[in-house]
Amino acid sequence: MAQVLITRKMFREAIAVLEEEQHVIEINDTDRILPSKELIDRTTGKAGLICLLNDSIDSGVMEALPSLKVISNVAVGYDNIDVDSATKRGIMVTNTPGVLTETTADLTFALLLAAARRIPEADRYVRAGKFEHWELVQPLMGIDVYGKTLGVIGMGQIGQAVARRASMGFKMKVIYFSSSANEQVEKELQAEFVELDELIVRSDFISIHVPLTEKTKHMFSSREFRKMNKGAILINTARGPVVDEEALVAAIKNGQIRGAALDVFEEEPRVHPELMKMEEHVVLAHHIGSASQETRLRMAMMAARNMVEGLRGKRPPNLVNELVF
Ligand code: GLV
Repeated sequence: MAQVLITRKMFREAIAVLEEEQHVIEINDTDRILPSKELIDRTTGKAGLICLLNDSIDSGVMEALPSLKVISNVAVGYDNIDVDSATKRGIMVTNTPGVLTETTADLTFALLLAAARRIPEADRYVRAGKFEHWELVQPLMGIDVYGKTLGVIGMGQIGQAVARRASMGFKMKVIYFSSSANEQVEKELQAEFVELDELIVRSDFISIHVPLTEKTKHMFSSREFRKMNKGAILINTARGPVVDEEALVAAIKNGQIRGAALDVFEEEPRVHPELMKMEEHVVLAHHIGSASQETRLRMAMMAARNMVEGLRGKRPPNLVNELVF
């Protein structure tokens, strides 16, 4: 039996997994992000912390929590946690990979299509009562997706699921850049591994699927936007800081690229005020890549099971740090 803090609203089913093990749960059953001090106060003396991607668990937080044994992040990305610091202290860190892959790939494609075919603009047009009759040369014409070139950056599970939709569903040519080439993907999807600069130059759509690290921060900045094809659209469903938002705004304004579809932002929940004003070829969403009811429940269950295993002193199924068991 251990004590666990859950930093935000949680599915009943996931709480039940912890209660079955007799763990004592404290939950911040609201939408409010706990300020660091409150998070520390409420986790003091507890062995488990179930947190979300916007809870910052840095070394200062860990330093103040000597009782902490397991941090279970309800997300696949874990850039909000100082994993090195956790490893040094022998704290397990877990995430929720796999269960959100297809859902996030669906959203990526929805955004790609929405920007290319200008769906949010069409929606606003109809609601404004502007739809009078069909025209051959009509307002809000988009661009084709079918048969175009998609550049996938990061060929992990989500990158592959996006590439599969592009290649099989839309007969797109898939080129990709990743930390290593993936022969199986190349065979299955006729995808071609290229260097980043080549991908940037050749793609009609570029979709980002890399984790946020020191290396990937601002991977897309003015230099990259200058090389992009003028008709290209950038889609980011990974992490906001991978794209230099200031440079993106300038690139769209200067016509260096056609537009962007963004599910993530540099300083969430803040969105660059210029992006907020751009209604043509720019589609924005509020970090909803994994936000289907089924997937969010699967993520919560996975996070609860990771916590249970970790508190048993066993290796949790989705441990991300190198701890010896
Ligand atoms: C969402 O962004 C996640 O990392 O799960």
